[in-house]
Amino acid sequence: MHVYIEDIHKYEDSEVTIKGWLYNKTDKGKLRFLLIRDGTGVIQGVVFQTNVSPEAFRIADELTQESSVIVTGKVRKDDRAPGGYELDVSELQLLQQAVDYPITPKEHGTAFLMEHRHLWLRSVRQHAVLRVRHSIIRAVRDFFDNRGFTLVDTPILTPAACEGTTTLFELDYFGEKAFLSQSGQLYNEAAAMSVGKTYCFGPTFRAEKSKTRRHLMEFWMVEPEIAFAELDDIMELSEAFVSYVIQRVLEERKKELNVLERDTGPLEKIRPPFPRLSYDQAFDILEKEGTETPRGSDFGGTDETILSKQFEKPVIVHRYPAEVKAFYMQPDPEDSSRALCMDMLAPEGYGEIIGGSQRIHDPDLLLKRIREHNLPEDAFRWYVDLRRYGSVPHAGFGMGIERVVGWICGLEHVRETIPFPRMLYRMYP
Ligand code: 4AD
Ligand code: MG
Repeated sequence: MHVYIEDIHKYEDSEVTIKGWLYNKTDKGKLRFLLIRDGTGVIQGVVFQTNVSPEAFRIADELTQESSVIVTGKVRKDDRAPGGYELDVSELQLLQQAVDYPITPKEHGTAFLMEHRHLWLRSVRQHAVLRVRHSIIRAVRDFFDNRGFTLVDTPILTPAACEGTTTLFELDYFGEKAFLSQSGQLYNEAAAMSVGKTYCFGPTFRAEKSKTRRHLMEFWMVEPEIAFAELDDIMELSEAFVSYVIQRVLEERKKELNVLERDTGPLEKIRPPFPRLSYDQAFDILEKEGTETPRGSDFGGTDETILSKQFEKPVIVHRYPAEVKAFYMQPDPEDSSRALCMDMLAPEGYGEIIGGSQRIHDPDLLLKRIREHNLPEDAFRWYVDLRRYGSVPHAGFGMGIERVVGWICGLEHVRETIPFPRMLYRMYP
């Protein structure tokens, strides 16, 4: 009977069949120890020469890394085995012998591994990252689905910019200019006026000319948007949201986090409330730490690292200077030079994971901002329209999934957080 390795504990002392690939192999006299992976786990198959046909033993003897096999044997409990079980192999069938698999168990440089990203995904660490990523995405969806949010999909081909014109991917749309979406937010705002609480979750694109460990050209973003919500509401929501996602992944992916050697202590502490700082309070800290960024501008990567290292939990920085933020943000009634916006910076130096704001709900002010930012009025007419028919205060945020995968998995670089990364000037593969 074909079973998956993750279910093997249910079949102690029974004969089962595993379908998978050879991960590693060692020999000892008449024994061949085959480490088999099948996508759900890894198990050691013990091939004893006298227990199998000569043909099966020859296959075991010559088996190379990543060859595809079907292995039948009896499940034996063994506390010394990784996973607690071994397979006493009785039959072994070769589907394909893999010749010269390029990624061997020895250390390879990252450049080499990135070149072989399509194969690198099979290694235990990358496999663990993929599974954590999936759990994060499921937790993200459950959080909003369980709170009455309606998923409304937003387009990828768009006629206008959302997050500044400098990072647009431009393309030709039947003779007209179009752009890959930087964010579903503008469409979310239309949806929120229909369903009240909405979210979108899809790929977003930024032609970011920055080669950092935090930037991708294509990343997945989840964006909630709520009618009749203000800055405080989304700060609270974002706290509950991030805490929920972290705790769910800790429950579901212990094994994978263990493979990644992630110290989960810091993650266990992630529960509301999170510390909050105004932009000016945050800058006081940065100046004490000797930042070179002038007060009034946006934080650089190093500033984010410094700030996020001050706290054990994510820190929410709110009310940035309106000048350095997007055109659609509602000004602070107490100080119109500040925007009612927030960024959430993850601890352990991971930096910004969430950006959000209350949106301008007055049509005249919005139009003024569109003009000040030299944005094409025509393309934004529908967006201003949303403020003409029963305009209400509303707010939302966006969270890039990859930075959260990086944080939860404890990865150095965002390139390992997405199956096929699109980096500056380069796609893999
Ligand atoms: O701060 P950003 O640009 O905010 C927006 O796009 C808003 N329209 C969202 C909203 O209010 N609905 O991006 C939000 C998040 C960032 O905090 C970060 O997690 C991620 O998206 N992000 C990136 N992730 C990887 N690579 C990049 N180049 C990213 N740019 C943004
Ligand atoms: Mg941002």
